[in-house]
Amino acid sequence: MRRDFRRRVVPTGYDAAVTVLDEDPVGGSPPAGTIRRIPSQGPETNSRETIMTFSKTTRRGALTGISVAALALITPFAAYAEDVVKVGLILPMTGPSASTGRQISQAVALYQAMNGTKAGGKTVEVIVKDDTGVADVTKRLAQELIVNDKVSVLAGFGLTPLALATAPISTQAKVPQVVMAAATATITEASPYIVRTSFTLPQATVPAADLATKNGWKKVITLVSDYGPGIDAEKAFGAQFTANGGTVAAALRVPLKNPDFAPFLQRVADEKPDALFVFVPSGFGALVIKQFVERGLDKSGVKLFGTGDLPDDDQLDGMGDVVIGLISTHHYSAAHPSPENKAFVDAYVKANPGQRPNFMAVGGYDGMAAIYKALEKTKGDADGTKLVEAMKGLAWVSPRGPMSIDPETRDVIQNIYVRKVEKVDGHLWNIESEAFEKVKDPVKAAKMKK
Ligand code: PHB
Repeated sequence: MRRDFRRRVVPTGYDAAVTVLDEDPVGGSPPAGTIRRIPSQGPETNSRETIMTFSKTTRRGALTGISVAALALITPFAAYAEDVVKVGLILPMTGPSASTGRQISQAVALYQAMNGTKAGGKTVEVIVKDDTGVADVTKRLAQELIVNDKVSVLAGFGLTPLALATAPISTQAKVPQVVMAAATATITEASPYIVRTSFTLPQATVPAADLATKNGWKKVITLVSDYGPGIDAEKAFGAQFTANGGTVAAALRVPLKNPDFAPFLQRVADEKPDALFVFVPSGFGALVIKQFVERGLDKSGVKLFGTGDLPDDDQLDGMGDVVIGLISTHHYSAAHPSPENKAFVDAYVKANPGQRPNFMAVGGYDGMAAIYKALEKTKGDADGTKLVEAMKGLAWVSPRGPMSIDPETRDVIQNIYVRKVEKVDGHLWNIESEAFEKVKDPVKAAKMKK
């Protein structure tokens, strides 16, 4: 069943609301710390909540028997359409990737609560639609949002196939498609209207291969979900690790749907590599850890590591002490030590007690930042081509650290951090130690050089 959520938040003076929020976040505030910076090798780059949905019938009804006094009341309604910029947020709110939909929709709502609903003089209205993680549904919803709801921007896209299915629509309709989650490298090449605020798998994986080499691991097995981002991770890891002199003893691919990692983990137990590199999409990490332990691999000496999708902040604190010491490379940790992140995490936890934001949430939050900043630049002009142009080259400080939109590729340029799971005040966090700075998607960077 599909669930639709439609809301318009009227500006509330959230600042005042923030000051009365006084609970401690789950597990306390993100732990403080410092990060060593590794400079980039590449080129420099720079409430009152009110539901206000007016059906056509209601408006026509209101216009019959019109009087001068009534006209004065109705004028704001007539101005409504021009003053509002609609964003169609398509997410898996149900199904196996529902945690991605929950994290992103909450972060988008938080962005509006913290920054108001106005950008470039327009009121930004978000319409959330549940695609259940099925690409045909995403595509149909995108069409409906453009044709019926007249959205100026499409956003969300929890999985690669969902983003790719929508690309021809954003191209044809000339509507910006802000990819907040999906992370296969080539996605931005599927439409000139795609702008990404999440990450790319090769971007996060090449540093993971370097980390493996640095740790002295010579023989590694890779285990990935068998679709776009998994194949990207497998290839990026294999190329970098073998160039560093390492050996990939086996490259295992696990079906995305209803995965059972057990037979693949048995193969790892038999082969006894120095380490096992894992990519699974957000929401699947806890199952990998459970089956890793069930096979006794935690006591076998095989080191488990991966991109940050594995020790996902959405699930990390429930994974158990077995993950203490697990290293990963990623663009966001809820423990990132910065004032911007502390404000973000504290507000997220206040708004969603018992939860903590993960990298999906930050992709959604920054997707909204890109939309707002573009609207400011165009002074509220929501023409799709102008908005995408305005997004190119945007740079700001996100809760994840500094980030920008590559003007050439429309993909995100950001720091990739080396992290290790540690227990702080009784809770598990990905503690960052070093940063590879201003990392571009290596796949597109390599194409640009040719
Ligand atoms: C993707 O489908 O592109 C995807 C989904 C979840 C992740 C990473 C990539 O954690």
